[in-house]
Amino acid sequence: MTSPPAPSVTSSPSITVFAPAKINLILRILDRRADGYHNLWSIMQTVAIQDELRIRLSPDCQHIRLGCDSQTLAADHTNLVYKAAAAVLDRAGKTVGLEIELKKRIPMGAGLGGGSSDAAATIIGLNRLLGLGYSEQQLSEIGQFLGSDVSFFFHAPSAVVSGRGEVVKPIALDGLRWVVLINPGFGIETRWAYHELAATRQSVRALSENQEELNRRTQLDWTQLGSAAENDFEDPVFAKHGALREIKRTLLTCGAEMALLSGSGATVFGIFKDERDARRTQAHFHGDKQLKTFAVPTCSHALTVQ
Ligand code: C5P
Repeated sequence: MTSPPAPSVTSSPSITVFAPAKINLILRILDRRADGYHNLWSIMQTVAIQDELRIRLSPDCQHIRLGCDSQTLAADHTNLVYKAAAAVLDRAGKTVGLEIELKKRIPMGAGLGGGSSDAAATIIGLNRLLGLGYSEQQLSEIGQFLGSDVSFFFHAPSAVVSGRGEVVKPIALDGLRWVVLINPGFGIETRWAYHELAATRQSVRALSENQEELNRRTQLDWTQLGSAAENDFEDPVFAKHGALREIKRTLLTCGAEMALLSGSGATVFGIFKDERDARRTQAHFHGDKQLKTFAVPTCSHALTVQ
């Protein structure tokens, strides 16, 4: 009788998770807290630019091995994917070997939450792969200290986000939209943007009546967002990077329903009702080779696991 083949890396259990980018349809930065972070209030939405994570149980090692196709992102213990995987194993009290392959598609330092989404996808993937059965609340507890945007991704595609970013109320945002994203090809450091905002604004402005009204809802449509849409980072970031203000103007001139900086930048996005207008607008920016441009639909589902 022949013995069964030894488990090989290729036959070990694996899982693939798609990690989408986010945009902030509204981003209000409120008071500074005792812990040094700021309270914020935001409506966040996932869009179909996705990183891809493949996580495989590795029987022949007892540590985490991370590979990444990006030249500019370290694939070591400083990577949020590595930190997220280590945090899950720590919480579960498990010592297993993991091989993780990350395919980066979301621009970095871009205000699109790519690192946070990758961290959330790692946690969701390991919850499934290791059969841990954690609730969304437990997933969020693991993720929230890795980055302020991580908790949102457990409640994607649409949510009202507050606190430091860890208080997330999922909402239904009726209707699909096309989003044109223009990334200038340079990053903006979030910490710098917060510092600049604090140094340049006179006072903290309370939420507008429209925003308070949206805060009470669990269901809204795109037309209700229009007059409430703003991003507090635009003033300080546009003051330093005038080209981003010009991109916003161009998106509006091309017919965007709304156009805003996402997060602390550097990506600026425009919202369109139909694909044709979105693609025509994207083509408008083709001449500038510095820019990375995307025309993608909003997501209508949670993070996908295969
Ligand atoms: O949590 P994350 O790594 O995204 O935060 C980066 C930096 O942005 C923090 O170190 C902090 O300076 C600032 N921040 C903040 N308030 C938040 C989120 C981030 O002041 N709610």
